[in-house]
Amino acid sequence: MRYFLVISVFLLLQSCYYDNEQDLYPVGSGGCDTLNLSYQTHILPIISSKCQSCHGSVSPNGSLSLMTHAQIKAAEVKVRDRINRSPGDPQLMPKTDKLPACQIRQLELWYNDGAPNN
Ligand code: HEC
Repeated sequence: MRYFLVISVFLLLQSCYYDNEQDLYPVGSGGCDTLNLSYQTHILPIISSKCQSCHGSVSPNGSLSLMTHAQIKAAEVKVRDRINRSPGDPQLMPKTDKLPACQIRQLELWYNDGAPNN
């Protein structure tokens, strides 16, 4: 019985030790993956699903094509401005569907990092 208790306490402490947030949610705070951001894995999927329908290669809206890494990188100042506007602002991009906070954060951190093509 005594051993059983000792082992139980040991297991309890072990499980507490492993139940920390980093191990359970290895994606940074609030479930938003902000670690080791990659152009291919994080950035391109946002741009292709939320922007490229209008900012494609053939006569893009606003004369701004966001199809290649170079184009997305070069548009940094404008993109940062437009995705951060308030809902209802006619300059917001996408206009009626502000990006989730996590995607805005990922784009900003990636730009802060020099917009690597990784
Ligand atoms: C439904 C179509 C549509 C979608 C989706 C869209 N845009 Fe736009 N975008 C436009 C139109 C139309 C303009 C030109 C009018 C204006 O400047 O607001 C524009 C203009 C812009 C400009 C300004 C270009 C310049 O040279 O001044 C930027 C930057 C921009 N969009 C970024 C984005 C980003 C980033 C996304 C995705 C997160 C996005 N847009 C999604 C239609 C769209």
